[in-house]
Amino acid sequence: MSVDVKTIEALFKEGRTFAPSEEFRAQANVSNDSLYKEADADIEAFWARQAEKYVSWYKKWDTTLEWDLPFAKWFAGGKLNAAYQCLDRHVAAGKGDKVAYLFEGEPGDTRSITYKQLLDEVCRLANALKGLGVKRGDRVGIYLGMIPELPAAMLACARIGAPHCVVFGGFSADAVADRMQDAGAVCLITQDEAWRRGKAVAMKHNADEACDKAETIKNMVVVRRTGAEVSMVAGRDHWYHELIADQSSECEPEVMDAEDLLFTLYTSGTTAKPKGIKHTTAGYMLQAMYTHDIVFNIHPDTVYWCAADIGWITGHTYIVYGTLGNGTTNILYEGTPDYPVKDRWWEIVEKYKATVLYCAPTAIRTFMKWGPEFPQKHDLSSLKLLGTVGEPINPEAWIWYRQFIGADSIPVVDTWWQTETGGIMVAPLPGVTTLKPGSATKPLPGIRAAVVDEAGKEVSPGGGGYVVLTHPWPGMLRGIWGADERYKETYWATYGDRYLAGDGARIDTDGYFWFMGRVDDVMNVSGHRISTTEVESALVDHPSVAEAAVVGKADEQTGQTIAAFVTLRSGIEGSTELVAELRNHVGKLIGPIAKPKFITFTPELPKTRSGKIMRRLLRDVSEQRLLGDTTTLADTGVVHELQRRAAEEAGKEA
Ligand code: PRX
Repeated sequence: MSVDVKTIEALFKEGRTFAPSEEFRAQANVSNDSLYKEADADIEAFWARQAEKYVSWYKKWDTTLEWDLPFAKWFAGGKLNAAYQCLDRHVAAGKGDKVAYLFEGEPGDTRSITYKQLLDEVCRLANALKGLGVKRGDRVGIYLGMIPELPAAMLACARIGAPHCVVFGGFSADAVADRMQDAGAVCLITQDEAWRRGKAVAMKHNADEACDKAETIKNMVVVRRTGAEVSMVAGRDHWYHELIADQSSECEPEVMDAEDLLFTLYTSGTTAKPKGIKHTTAGYMLQAMYTHDIVFNIHPDTVYWCAADIGWITGHTYIVYGTLGNGTTNILYEGTPDYPVKDRWWEIVEKYKATVLYCAPTAIRTFMKWGPEFPQKHDLSSLKLLGTVGEPINPEAWIWYRQFIGADSIPVVDTWWQTETGGIMVAPLPGVTTLKPGSATKPLPGIRAAVVDEAGKEVSPGGGGYVVLTHPWPGMLRGIWGADERYKETYWATYGDRYLAGDGARIDTDGYFWFMGRVDDVMNVSGHRISTTEVESALVDHPSVAEAAVVGKADEQTGQTIAAFVTLRSGIEGSTELVAELRNHVGKLIGPIAKPKFITFTPELPKTRSGKIMRRLLRDVSEQRLLGDTTTLADTGVVHELQRRAAEEAGKEA
């Protein structure tokens, strides 16, 4: 038996689809399929038109695309500056008083920052960095929490042509050191401490440790956030506020080439060493702005909230470059969804009248676990569109999101993309596409993607396989920092001229993509390929289950068996009866082959700080191996408890 897309669709019980409402369509930026047609007719001409529409050029490009497989150049010869694109041109157009960021600090402090104010701050910091000797082409590390100085620092770097390398504020000193060393950063911008659930995290202390190892760093700039005493190294460390105080608020932007490096951002691959993904200026900016505009249906009065962290690509593209490029007002929230109360997000939506919310399925499943009473305490009627990103969304979570956050009436756009792609690749156009809960629908106009089998042949409708991108796109990575061979090997060695995304997906008869997670999250049980996501989706479909993670456990007889780790909804107790019920539930929805052999109940799943479930660690736990790299784990206590339980289970079996 093979598992086809029908079974995933069956998880959405009524089989309902959601066509755009007349009301939505009437105000949609894109309300017909002409963009798809234009892009199909001539993809390069299409992107050239978008580049004229979205980007302000100092000088127009010479060639739209130079493709020297696997190295792309988009808009070569064109000149621009990303900070100018995000700030100056809006101020010049009379929009200086428009709010760029509505900042909500974790302790409840707030700041409203206009485009003009942000431009001034960016110029001051840019001048200060120059004063420290930072030059065009130098790499600058940024290790900050979600405070307005983070986008300001990125844009100051962009302004002077110094590529930034942001490290997520929750990473450890070692992780910062590795990345700074790899990037050869000359300067690190950090803060005294960060707020995290009411506690102060010692970021400056971590930065000090990182700098002990990363010898290229000559200067550290420290933002005062909590006001804690921190030790400052004379000659190396400078307070941000002191440094910028006397600087001019004018700083001529560097004229950058389209293909100059804008930033590197580290992401994990199959090996332990993170990859510094390279993004260049024009193509990335274009893809960021274009996708932000058409997928989120941006209007002048949009109040946009991307609830990701700027330390990840989602935040780079949709809290900074794409959204500021489009001159949009953004909510910037420092804290977590449950501090100090479980309705903090909904307070924020109500307070700022957010019109778009973009977050990860893991957050949605957490809200489901807490129950709808938290959003129901608030007026969420300002919301016009919801988005998700980062992992497959199970249909039940999609429906819950639409129902309880979206008043059962607004579009939910599931957006598939990667650090490597720079911007959204597969997603609906909310004024055009009929939505199916759990599907990211189709590649955007200008994006070409396919699902292929081992041999590289496109699968027929209903089939599943590997996701490939079949034509270069403007926001694509330009390689891995200092590792061209690894770049070729990772993404291009398998299918030659097609980019291997590393994800599995199925295509349904309407050509919709159903992403199933990383290829290494696909299990092979008795020769049947089963996605961990499908089984998880089935488990979460059960009324007792809040969240589930599934891994393949090596088995002599069947290749792999399925081990599930399940978090129950509050108030529900695990029992042997419930184990049997869950197994049957999965059996019913997908087929007997997909029934988990092992089910372990756990109050929490091990997750990265960005909220991704670390299945690799769960595989280690279920196979009772020593744990692999745990540096990206948010809370190590969770896996240790699971290890203890797994050892107990094994003891019982023996
Ligand atoms: O497996 C896919 C999953 O996240 C991976 C990329 O992770 P990262 O580079 O951290 O970027 C995350 C934010 C863009 C992909 O290879 N992924 C991302 N979005 C989706 C998704 N899986 C399913 N559906 C999505 N919408």
